Amino acid sequence: MMFSYHDQTKHSYLSVRQGAHQLDWSMQPTPYKRYEKKLRRFAFDLEDAEDRFLYHIGGINAQKSYPGVTYYLRMNPAAGALYPNELYVQIRGVAGKQDGIYHYDVFSSALTLLYPLHEGEGLEALVGERYPIKGYLFLLSMVPWRSAWKYRLRAFRYCLLDGGHLLGAIEMAALLKPHATRMIYRIDHHALNRHFGFLQQEYMLSAAVVGVPMRKHGLPKLPSQPLPYADATDTFMPTPEIVTAYHESLQLQACKRQLHAPTFDFESLRLQEAIVRRRSTRAFAPEAISKGQLHYLESIIAQPILSDCDEEVAVYVIVNRVLQMPSGIRLWGNYLRYGDFSARVGYLALEQYHLARDGALALIMTSRGTNYQALYQKAGVIGQRLYIAATYLGLGCSGIGAYYDDEVCDFLGLDAKEEMVLYMMAIGRELEK
Ligand SMILES: Cc1cc2nc3c(=O)[nH]c(=O)nc-3n(C[C@H](O)[C@H](O)[C@H](O)COP(=O)(O)O)c2cc1C
Repeated sequence: MMFSYHDQTKHSYLSVRQGAHQLDWSMQPTPYKRYEKKLRRFAFDLEDAEDRFLYHIGGINAQKSYPGVTYYLRMNPAAGALYPNELYVQIRGVAGKQDGIYHYDVFSSALTLLYPLHEGEGLEALVGERYPIKGYLFLLSMVPWRSAWKYRLRAFRYCLLDGGHLLGAIEMAALLKPHATRMIYRIDHHALNRHFGFLQQEYMLSAAVVGVPMRKHGLPKLPSQPLPYADATDTFMPTPEIVTAYHESLQLQACKRQLHAPTFDFESLRLQEAIVRRRSTRAFAPEAISKGQLHYLESIIAQPILSDCDEEVAVYVIVNRVLQMPSGIRLWGNYLRYGDFSARVGYLALEQYHLARDGALALIMTSRGTNYQALYQKAGVIGQRLYIAATYLGLGCSGIGAYYDDEVCDFLGLDAKEEMVLYMMAIGRELEK
């Protein structure tokens, strides 16, 4: 049985035309959560390797100005640049850093200290760990209203995808460190929501560890005081359907652990450059990429993701234009069908022809798994890996969250009652501006 929220939030040719709604610009939420000024902030010093690691995850790396307004873009992409996720981090035993629980303050490019950890304290028990973690324990939340303001009900999908991208951004930034990143979906959401003082604006989604368990130590006790409260956004409207979908998808079932770490052969300086340069391509030149580039991207898709709840996500690769390769649909490196489907995928991506048709490749991620939050965030992690790998190869990339769900299933020969279409992407040569 498909998760009912997913079924209810499918786009179709008709729904998009009947459901168009006017944006209320006076209600546009801020994408920045800011704690009160009296808390200590530690601004990132980009000459320091640990701060650079943190900055590479979600720092601001570009700005776009229009008359009267400037938008700031970040290392991590987000549907509509609405950034509906917040990041927190518990740091323990990292040279030059005070042990504590911090908020990642994107606006100030700093960490805000929410709670200095005392001896034997920590949040590990709430994320299913048995020992204290030496290193970084990240916690990812969502603020649904920031995305629902524009995307309404479909916003929960974007909160999960954008969140997955942020988990992937942690993973990519951590490739310059000795420890692989491990995603944790089995967390005590209720206790964490309470502990962080989230009211009805914000909800914890998942965690990621970049560190090692200290096996000689006992499990830390929870901090003795609750963390300070701050509004996650300025304007606010409740999103009851999304909150219901969140609660209905909290209980994990029959999770499989993924214990195999991925292997990436990125060269570190070029990887750093790719992280800092990553952008979404706004228009592709309808040109071919090379066979080697396709194989490289497919090898990235095939890499495992360390996690405590690994769901199967299929990544269909639609070859629009690759030198010395036939056009067609590939899955796990093999052709399922031959033919030029570029115009068709352009239509399926809600007629964003400049992305899915003009890209050398269009990608479609699907799943029939049961653990909705875990599988959707996984699609985001894969998406982030592809953005960085494409940038590393000198190619452009864009996420595509809007598509005609059931027609995509028909196109792939999948049963639209069973298979969920999670995400589309396009990769290719960027049109020169
Ligand atoms: C989950 C997701 C869905 C997206 N969907 C679309 C889309 O349907 N069409 C589009 O033009 N861009 C899409 N984007 C790209 C965003 O608009 C882009 O990430 C955002 O404007 C920030 O710009 P940047 O990626 O260059 O930092 C998507 C991005 C993400 C992460």
